[in-house]
Amino acid sequence: MKLLLDTANLEDIRYFNEYFPIVGVTTNPTILSREGGDIVAHLREIRKIIGDDKELHVQVTERTYEGIIEEAKAIVYLLGNNTYVKIPATDVGIKATRYLSSKGYSITMTAILSPSQAMLASNAGAAYVAPYVSRLENICDDGIEIVSEIQKMFNVSKTETQIIAASFKTVRQVLNVALAGAGAATVCSEVMTNLLNHSTTDTSIAGFYADWKKSFGDSTLRELIAKSN
Ligand code: E4P
Repeated sequence: MKLLLDTANLEDIRYFNEYFPIVGVTTNPTILSREGGDIVAHLREIRKIIGDDKELHVQVTERTYEGIIEEAKAIVYLLGNNTYVKIPATDVGIKATRYLSSKGYSITMTAILSPSQAMLASNAGAAYVAPYVSRLENICDDGIEIVSEIQKMFNVSKTETQIIAASFKTVRQVLNVALAGAGAATVCSEVMTNLLNHSTTDTSIAGFYADWKKSFGDSTLRELIAKSN
C-alpha cells in the first residue's frame, strides 16, 4: 500500500520525504490554515521539496461548479504534473469530477463516508476516493469495514479508481486498511512516525552495539574489512 504524508508542515515534509518511502503529500483547507502566511508560496515550496514525480493533493475551496473547475485548473497550473485536485463528495463535486476527469485532470474525491459515495466518485472518473477512517469511527461506524466494502466493490467493477484511505489516529487502522486492499493511505506525521517506532527495536539495536563494542571496541566492521585488505 502506497503511503502519503497528510500535512503541510515544511519541516515534516522535508524529513519524511528524505527518510520514508512516501509517494506524495496530501493537504486540505484545515491543514493549510495551520500554516497561514503566503499559502501559494507555501504550496510551491511543498512541490519543490517533494519534486515533480511525487503526488501533491490539494483541495478546492470554491463551492460552485464553475468555481471548482476554474480553481482546479489554477491549482494544476501552479503545481504541475502529479497534482491531484481534491473535490468533496457533493452533487456539485461529482459534476465537476465528471468534467475534469474527462479533460484529463486527476481527481481525489474527498470526505467519503460511505461505499455509495465511493461508487458515484468512481463512476464520475475520480482517480482516488478518500474514505475517512477515524471520522467514521468517531461516530461509532466501522471505518475499516467501509474501506473493505469499497475495495470489494472496486475489485468487482474493475474500476481504475483507487482508495486513498485517510483520517487515521492509530497504526492499527493503517494496517487494517492495507489488509483490506486499499491502494494508498495518507497519514499525519505522528502516525507516520509510529509506523516505524518500536521500543524493542531500540533495545535490540542498543544490545547489538554494546556487544560489538565489548569485543571490537570502536572499530566498525567496515574499518576491519579495510584493514584486512
Ligand atoms: C484527507 O483527505 C483528509 O483531509 C484528512 O486525512 C482528514 O484527516 P482528519 O480526520 O484527521 O482531519
